[in-house]
Amino acid sequence: MSQVVVASNRGPVSFSLSDDGALEMRRGGGGLVSGLAGVASGQDVLWVCASLGEADRTAARRAPDGRIDLAGHDTGGAAVRMLDIPAATFHRAYNAVANSTLWFVHHLLYDTPRSPHFDARARRDWQSYEAYNAAFADALARDAAPGAKAAIQDYHLSLAPRMLRDRRPDLRIVHFSHTPWAPPEYFRLLPDDIGAQVLLGILGADHAGFLTERWASAFLDCCEVVLGARVDRAARTVTCGGRTTRVGVHALGVDGTALRERAAQQDVAERARALREQVADRQLIVRIDRTELSKNIVRGLAAYREMLANHPEWHGRVVHLAFAYPSRYDLPEYREYTAAVQRMAKQIAEEFGTATWEPLILQVNDDYPRSLAAYGLADVLLVNPIRDGMNLVAKEGPVLSERGCALVLSREAGAAAELSDDALVVNPYDVSQTAEALHQGLLMPRDQRAERCARLVSAATALPPQRWFADQLAALD
Ligand code: F6P
Repeated sequence: MSQVVVASNRGPVSFSLSDDGALEMRRGGGGLVSGLAGVASGQDVLWVCASLGEADRTAARRAPDGRIDLAGHDTGGAAVRMLDIPAATFHRAYNAVANSTLWFVHHLLYDTPRSPHFDARARRDWQSYEAYNAAFADALARDAAPGAKAAIQDYHLSLAPRMLRDRRPDLRIVHFSHTPWAPPEYFRLLPDDIGAQVLLGILGADHAGFLTERWASAFLDCCEVVLGARVDRAARTVTCGGRTTRVGVHALGVDGTALRERAAQQDVAERARALREQVADRQLIVRIDRTELSKNIVRGLAAYREMLANHPEWHGRVVHLAFAYPSRYDLPEYREYTAAVQRMAKQIAEEFGTATWEPLILQVNDDYPRSLAAYGLADVLLVNPIRDGMNLVAKEGPVLSERGCALVLSREAGAAAELSDDALVVNPYDVSQTAEALHQGLLMPRDQRAERCARLVSAATALPPQRWFADQLAALD
């Protein structure tokens, strides 16, 4: 039994099976894992996550009592338990409810062709979401020591805090939302009973954490409007059904030292050399994202195109390096979005490319060392999400930028709350404004860029993940 149990859909590690049947372990993907990895090393932490494939299930079966020992690995915990959730349940909970419904609500992604439609099938999906959350609550209840702390992560697991409290009233529970939170008028797109269950599920925790004031305040609004709960804004508490939950804001920054150490490795230097050869001495606009609807990649490319159209002086003198890594390919919206990104990239190449100048380099194969190398070379970093819980690209880029990059940043990214003074802040829907900000970023004198970038680095590294995690656990004392 562990003194601290962490739960998230994606775990700190994932496995693959080599041809000879041997298990190979690698660090898990995703923003949450980058945030949490390393924070809990050395502590008595058990991390509970879903098995994401046959290799994960095999690893879990082979481990004594299903607990995979992570000692000696820099992965954020002493041990991991990978739950074997039936494939259909996982698919409905993860793809249909978490990523196609809750994610769309919190990122305001619904549009007319893809408007919400909650029918009998959606109800069945919801039951799977309940079963998925119950599987986590069961595992946490079994593994947590008496009086232990449980840290439950994200929108996949909004029901688990209440379910865990019912099973283990002795535990101290924190739920943390890594996404934005929808305002009540948008949140109420959800069927009333489902919306209420999401809120009541989180209110099963002692402490509900958010990345910014804005998301915390939207959650309080939803509790008031949807549940009729008593909300004390000054104290940041919600009282409902005789229980009070505290709401806290815990911004997540980057560990500058660890990031710089990783970027100093040989594989990053090799990628940097290759990129330098490709772009020669041209200025570089960099973006790095999962190909995710909320990241607004198509409008970002449209802005670059508009900048090239309005400012022909940049022709031949700038390259846009756009890394758009595959994400959630099981969902048709994501496949269509990937195709739209590729179409737009092709148009830019056809419209502006010459025999000696490739204006846009779009890379879709995930390569972490190459991303770190690109941060190092960026003159301008473009981060323009429609809406984002935090966005760590906006924080990592300045830390690794070698000549001080200008940051073009969406006002709708959580990171804008900390970085807007030194970024070129844009409305993510305003393509022309974004085009002009890219132009201004390229024009910004080197010394001014470097000064701004130094301040961005201070803000980005002020609250490293270790501190973020420790603050949440401390909020339970
Ligand atoms: O933004 C919240 C978050 O959980 C990130 O931490 C993570 O990168 C993403 O959403 C989940 O992505 P995936 O569906 O690939 O696990």
